[in-house]
Amino acid sequence: MRIVSIGGGPAGLYFSLLMKKSDPAHDITVVERNRPDDTFGFGVVFSDATLEHVAEADRTSHAEITSHFAHWDDIDIHYRGQVLTSAGHGFAGMSRQLLLDILQKRCAELGVRLEFQREVGDPGAYADADLVLGADGVNSIVRSRYAEHFRPRIDWRANKFVWLGTTFPYPAFTFLFKESVHGLWRVHAYRYDQSMSTFILETTEATWRRAGLDRADEDQTLAFCEQLFAEELQGHRLLKNRSLWRSFPTVRNGSWRHGNVVLVGDAAHTAHFSIGSGTKLAMEDAIALARALQSHGEVEKALAAYEEDRRPEVERLQRAAQVSLEWFEEAERYHARLEPIQFAMSLLTRSLRVTHENLKTRDPRFVAAVDRWYVSRAEQQAQIAVSAPSPPPPMFTPFRLREMLLSNRIVVSPMCQYSAQDGTPGDWHLVNLGSRAVGGAALVVAEMTDVSREGRITPGCTGMYKPEHVVAWKRIVDFVHAASPARIALQLAHAGRKGSTRVLWEGMDEPLPAGNWPLMSASALPYHPYSQVPKAMDREDMMRVRDQFVAAARMAQQAGLDMLELHVAHGYLLASFISPLTNIRTDEYGGSADNRARYPLEVFDAVRTVWPAGRPMSVKISATDWAEGGLELDDAIDFARKLRQHGCDIVTVSTGQTVPDQKPQYGRLYQTPFSDRIRGEAEIATMTVGGIASYDDVNSILAAGRADLCVLARGHLYDPYWTRHAAYEQGFDLPWPDQYVSVKGFTPRLD
Ligand SMILES: Cc1cc2nc3c(=O)[nH]c(=O)nc-3n(C[C@H](O)[C@H](O)[C@H](O)COP(=O)(O)OP(=O)(O)OC[C@H]3O[C@@H](n4cnc5c(N)ncnc54)[C@H](O)[C@@H]3O)c2cc1C
Ligand SMILES: Cc1cc2nc3c(=O)[nH]c(=O)nc-3n(C[C@H](O)[C@H](O)[C@H](O)COP(=O)(O)O)c2cc1C
Repeated sequence: MRIVSIGGGPAGLYFSLLMKKSDPAHDITVVERNRPDDTFGFGVVFSDATLEHVAEADRTSHAEITSHFAHWDDIDIHYRGQVLTSAGHGFAGMSRQLLLDILQKRCAELGVRLEFQREVGDPGAYADADLVLGADGVNSIVRSRYAEHFRPRIDWRANKFVWLGTTFPYPAFTFLFKESVHGLWRVHAYRYDQSMSTFILETTEATWRRAGLDRADEDQTLAFCEQLFAEELQGHRLLKNRSLWRSFPTVRNGSWRHGNVVLVGDAAHTAHFSIGSGTKLAMEDAIALARALQSHGEVEKALAAYEEDRRPEVERLQRAAQVSLEWFEEAERYHARLEPIQFAMSLLTRSLRVTHENLKTRDPRFVAAVDRWYVSRAEQQAQIAVSAPSPPPPMFTPFRLREMLLSNRIVVSPMCQYSAQDGTPGDWHLVNLGSRAVGGAALVVAEMTDVSREGRITPGCTGMYKPEHVVAWKRIVDFVHAASPARIALQLAHAGRKGSTRVLWEGMDEPLPAGNWPLMSASALPYHPYSQVPKAMDREDMMRVRDQFVAAARMAQQAGLDMLELHVAHGYLLASFISPLTNIRTDEYGGSADNRARYPLEVFDAVRTVWPAGRPMSVKISATDWAEGGLELDDAIDFARKLRQHGCDIVTVSTGQTVPDQKPQYGRLYQTPFSDRIRGEAEIATMTVGGIASYDDVNSILAAGRADLCVLARGHLYDPYWTRHAAYEQGFDLPWPDQYVSVKGFTPRLD
């Protein structure tokens, strides 16, 4: 097979040597524009896991590479005069030049032809080869030459960075945050041999311009950085090597192959340097591609298999890299606000790959310090002492909202059961909510409960609009209070334009085939084009519905509920006022964000006035509509701020469901970043919900300050005893009800 690699970086060299090793008859040429000893940049990092793949693929180069490693286990975070160390991370670094030397030498030994100082202008010149490798890095000409086939998308990130070296031998992977008169600077530094470290400096474009670095040449950059970090460098120098200020491009391609041409490494995809994975990805691509060619005789099939194999892993890493780069872009948001240990947790767990549990395995002392700090904060907040021999995990710390004291941080999310008779909850609701209260969650939020018959989503929705409802709810509330320490809240709502529809299992948001009732909403816009057109509410409608909310709140008080949540999310009536996609009013309740917030706030104020002062109120919001022209996070932050000013105690941060053509990005903890921002910027307590399934994620979210309470919906449908199971797995003693005390000493076998 005749193979040409355009580019002799880690991807091109490593692939070439693996192929030549597998079959010396292959005719392989690497065409590289630089000289063999020209390299830009300083060190590269590998994790222990990557090295295992490299060892399996070629023991010879693995042995050479590892013999030159600088190893470290610790991550040091320099923050406001403190250094926080988290151990057990298992990384190794080496000089990029040395890595290329080793790979070049191994290629030459095996008989790969290396053509240096040869710049490829048109990859078409190699069209007659059996396989052409686009291994020409981030600015790939192979990718641009066949752009219509590869369909590249390049996302240029906002921050500026420069790649420098230093003679300061950093003992750990070091993140350094430093404020100057110009702004906040972030350094990512790690040692790559006995005496040298990579030193990447990153900042926002505004800070960079304020410091005059937009006009600085390499030497001026170096002088500026040496002065800024004189104290940290302790007399050591910084070094340049084509150290130009750049913006990071996240490269993605619709396809990585076209005919006999294939992209590998940075040409195919990049992952931000803050997760140090560019070289790893390049070498793993090389391994996967070589394997695919060895197992499939035909190039076309092999390239398809390579892409199918690698793409999910690469995309997973790119998602982690995206969260990580955003964290660094937004570091100003966390920097002044979080205390050192929480800042460290926020940094370490930013891309969800490192978690509370995972850190505990690596460094139990660090996590014990986090837990100690967290419980002491919780004690202050809840005004209660926690008596436990050792600090409990964050999820088992108390939390107070007005006079309501929660014994832990787990909440059962409101979930419609579509099983009520004219709004009256029955035995199903008693068992459903009662068993979840016994299951250990500190707060159970009963489903969306409508303030009028016409305000229901479906004929099976619960209500709080007639005296029977008070009796039926009181039965449930009394059971929860008698059988568990859990508190119980009611979510009050009006379905607005999403009403008069079928129960979930007959078609969510689908209009009833018969027996419909009239709808109203902020504007006369139907949900689906074929849904009923709602009436745009006039002032009289608004006052009537507001009074229905007030009446329902009074009834909720009679029923003994501990908390009320107003549903201002998911496109229902109150939310329809907030979103510009559903509110096109021209009166003082439409137009500006203030106007759109006016009616929901009027309802909130009216309810707050009659709801007992000692009992809290939350509001559930959609922090984005996931749709063009709709609400975005900044709008939600602004609304959350208004809610705080009106006396709202806590916001439940959900997203979407405003319009049917939304484009949500679901996944693990997919709504938690919204909670993080709202909590920090609107300075209000938050409940995060969405894709939470493990106690580990709960502990990580809480310890990193991304929310105050964690809410599980489907997790609780699946397992009403979710909190009990989480307690058992963490060795935490959660008292059982008297009826169940025999469980003590019973060992469940879950595997
Ligand atoms: C600031 C910064 C820090 C980084 N830190 C790390 C880190 O800590 N760890 C890590 O693993 N990765 C890191 N990386 C990423 C890493 O450098 C790349 O991801 C990795 O080198 C990709 O390998 P590659 O072979 O795909 O591309 P490259 O290493 O870029 O190699 C491409 C080669 O193609 C050659 N070439 C390009 N065009 C032509 C042409 N027309 N003709 C002939 N030759 C051509 C280039 O000269 C180059 O040698 C960092 C990157 C940056 C920017
Ligand atoms: C069956 C079901 C019914 C739901 N009903 C409501 C509801 O009444 N009120 C509400 O705010 N959210 C409702 N939701 C949304 C959930 O409360 C939650 O926000 C969402 O499911 C994401 O959380 P999860 O990933 O833990 O399931 C419902 C979800 C499900 C699965």
